[in-house]
Amino acid sequence: MSEQLVAMVTGAGSGIGLATARRLHRLGMRLVLVDRDPSSVGRLAQRLGAVAVVGDVTDPAVNERAVQAATDRYGRLDLLHANAGRMTSRALAAVDIASMDLDAYRATMGVNVDAVVFGIRAAMPALRGERHAGIVVTASLAGLTPYPPDPIYTMTKHAMVGLVRSLAEPLAACGVTISAVCPGFVDTPLIAEARHEFIAADFPLITAADAAAAVEHAWRAAEPGALWVVQPGREPIAYRPAGVPGPRTGGSTTLPTVQ
Ligand SMILES: NC(=O)c1ccc[n+]([C@@H]2O[C@H](COP(=O)([O-])OP(=O)(O)OC[C@H]3O[C@@H](n4cnc5c(N)ncnc54)[C@H](O)[C@@H]3O)[C@@H](O)[C@H]2O)c1
Repeated sequence: MSEQLVAMVTGAGSGIGLATARRLHRLGMRLVLVDRDPSSVGRLAQRLGAVAVVGDVTDPAVNERAVQAATDRYGRLDLLHANAGRMTSRALAAVDIASMDLDAYRATMGVNVDAVVFGIRAAMPALRGERHAGIVVTASLAGLTPYPPDPIYTMTKHAMVGLVRSLAEPLAACGVTISAVCPGFVDTPLIAEARHEFIAADFPLITAADAAAAVEHAWRAAEPGALWVVQPGREPIAYRPAGVPGPRTGGSTTLPTVQ
């Protein structure tokens, strides 16, 4: 890579974000790493010569601070990996909607939905105009298929798919490509408590390194609105949603625009 590109990774202290940070570092990119866990993100930033921003990404100001760090320190931002996230309960444990803990509900909505929107909002002014400008959101296979144990997690990841698909065109018009990776279960601390259950069931897990490779793939492919399914042992596969039936009454199906 001749120019030195700059990436911001949220949730960089662990799992997929950490593996992506390492991968982008190996590509020669400069990094702003964001996480609310100061020790993990601090250690990684020190090792990679990156900037650490410690904070909760559900706070819009934290996202703005991270973008500011990229532009102050490196003069640009080329890639946002909006990745921080959580599940409503331990992996595989069923969430009972009738007795669900409302703090857990809000926490999941906050980081899986609000924080992604705040990250994109903060990053857009800096991304606009860069030649390789991209946003890769970590959605999930649970953004494309039902995941009955955690319907709230599933809802947030479906929301990401809708966000990415809807932003594809307007962001592309500004020179920014947005896409999502949709991994199945990845062997990270997020699912650590259920790891032995996956192993006992001979259920293959994706490595964090392979999920990170998919993030790079999504960014390089630069296909607006693309949804990259990530499964163990496979290259990322573009998921193409089926179209919906149009009206039978004739007329135009092109959405009118308001001036
Ligand atoms: N592990 C999986 O099976 C899997 C599968 C599909 C998608 N995902 C998604 O991948 C993303 C990363 O998950 P992971 O498996 O690497 O999890 P992880 O728990 O290993 O890492 C998540 C990181 O995000 C940070 N974080 C969480 N909430 C935060 C907040 N509000 N502000 C700042 N930092 C915060 C945590 O401190 C942690 O370092 C999530 O969006 C998750 O939903 C994970």
